Amino acid sequence: KVGDSTNIKWHEGSVDTATREKAMNQKGCVLWFTGLSGSGKSTVAYTLEHALFQRGKVAQVLDGDNIRHGLNSNLGFSAEDREENIRRIGEVSKLFADSGMITLVSFISPYRKDRDQVRARVGDKFVEVYMKIPLEVCEQRDPKGLYKAARAGKIKGFTGIDDPYEEPLDAEIVMEVAKEGGDGTLAPPEKMAAAIIEIL
Ligand code: PPS
Repeated sequence: KVGDSTNIKWHEGSVDTATREKAMNQKGCVLWFTGLSGSGKSTVAYTLEHALFQRGKVAQVLDGDNIRHGLNSNLGFSAEDREENIRRIGEVSKLFADSGMITLVSFISPYRKDRDQVRARVGDKFVEVYMKIPLEVCEQRDPKGLYKAARAGKIKGFTGIDDPYEEPLDAEIVMEVAKEGGDGTLAPPEKMAAAIIEIL
């Protein structure tokens, strides 16, 4: 716990989450996408956001790269900064979910204890979506050329190369590489988004 909340009082409004959800005709939740860089977290989250809108549902993506341009622009990639990154966005996602939003969070979130802390804060609205894509596949895709730079020593502490990624042990949803054909290719994002909607 940081700071002093001794002289701070909690205010309760008369409009609660259930009332807001009824007005929005949906249930707020947090779909927490975790996985290596290049595993398709953001692509699937944005595709899902679009698919939900087509079904008349209101969703909002909170994406690591984007949030690091604003709210979390003072954070880097040390263990402490990643922890604070996830803590902050965990709090933000709780606020969004409590306002009735279908909140799609896309962060590497490499440390299990940080994800579990968010799970404990958000409660039963938290759904962990593990993009279980092997490092070799992510590295081969390398959409931003970051793995290449990390292998060349130009980026230090890159997740999966010289910084750990702790796999979820009990994620509610696990997305894997397409098994059909066994060629290690990813299913199209539309297919993954449809599969997630089906599960939800
Ligand atoms: S974390 O670990 O959850 O705090 O990371 P996140 O906020 O999701 O940001 C990940 C994106 O930052 C870029 N990037 C790095 N990733 C991992 N390790 C290091 N050292 C690093 N440096 C920059 C990278 O583009 C990640 O984007 P994605 O979309 O995951 O590929």
